Amino acid sequence: MAEKKVTLKLENVSKSFAKVENDEVTHALNAIDMELKSGEFISLVGPSGCGKSTILRLVAGLITPTTGKITVDGKEILEPSPERGMVFQKPTLFPWLTVEKNIAFSLKMQGKLKGNEEKVERMLKVIGLESFREDYPGQLSGGMAQRVALVRSLINEPDILLLDEPLGALDAFTRMNMQDEILKIWQERGQLAIMVTHDVDEAIYMGTRVIVMDANPGRVVADIKIDEEYPRDRSSAAFVEYRNEILNRLHFGGNK
Ligand SMILES: Nc1ncnc2c1ncn2[C@@H]1O[C@H](COP(=O)(O)OP(=O)(O)OP(=O)(O)O)[C@@H](O)[C@H]1O
Ligand SMILES: [Mg+2]
Repeated sequence: MAEKKVTLKLENVSKSFAKVENDEVTHALNAIDMELKSGEFISLVGPSGCGKSTILRLVAGLITPTTGKITVDGKEILEPSPERGMVFQKPTLFPWLTVEKNIAFSLKMQGKLKGNEEKVERMLKVIGLESFREDYPGQLSGGMAQRVALVRSLINEPDILLLDEPLGALDAFTRMNMQDEILKIWQERGQLAIMVTHDVDEAIYMGTRVIVMDANPGRVVADIKIDEEYPRDRSSAAFVEYRNEILNRLHFGGNK
């Protein structure tokens, strides 16, 4: 379990961006209220542009809200911190470092690599890239790079894990394996995970809650607790029911 239990609160959070081409503004997020705790796995789904990445960037401390407040245990988030690990929608690796050194980078920066070499080993194994350890990011496929970016964040054991479509570039088989690996790591540590995904089945398979959003302005339209044991059965009646409910919320209901 994670050493530290945390409560993340978003209170009446809005975020607007000025458009470059005219003096209009984009209401990326409007009046978002959320309370999320350690031990939860939050799946965020919604149409393109509804503000999913914006929520993660706000929680990461990369941007600040236009109105409202975001706090961890009552303390306002004002800047990035290793306690909040982010995996970006587009993998960001250091092109001048090998796979192994990319994974070990943050441990090294914090002076924690000595004695933790086996963590790097485990991460290489989790993503099945032990034989690519000496390769550079430029030599990897998109899916491989995404897996390296994922474990590079996991290795820090952040209290809050922010995952922006971390499995988007993966083929179906690797994707399902990685879903299980992420769940395993999350279950071992019991941190708060917030994952954006476009895949409704992935959202249900992994999440303790699925938060459904809509766009213009970006807002929450449903917050659905997934009351099923892990590992989940994608073909169970309950699973199918959750899928229908979420698709309906996303306006993809079958009988409309
Ligand atoms: N830095 C920025 N400057 C201007 N507008 C922005 C900026 N970041 C996001 N936006 C706008 O805010 C809205 C929400 O963007 P965001 O990236 O959060 O959407 P998303 O839900 O992650 O979409 P996708 O599923 O396509 O990744 C969009 O209309 C986007 O154009
Ligand atoms: Mg996004």
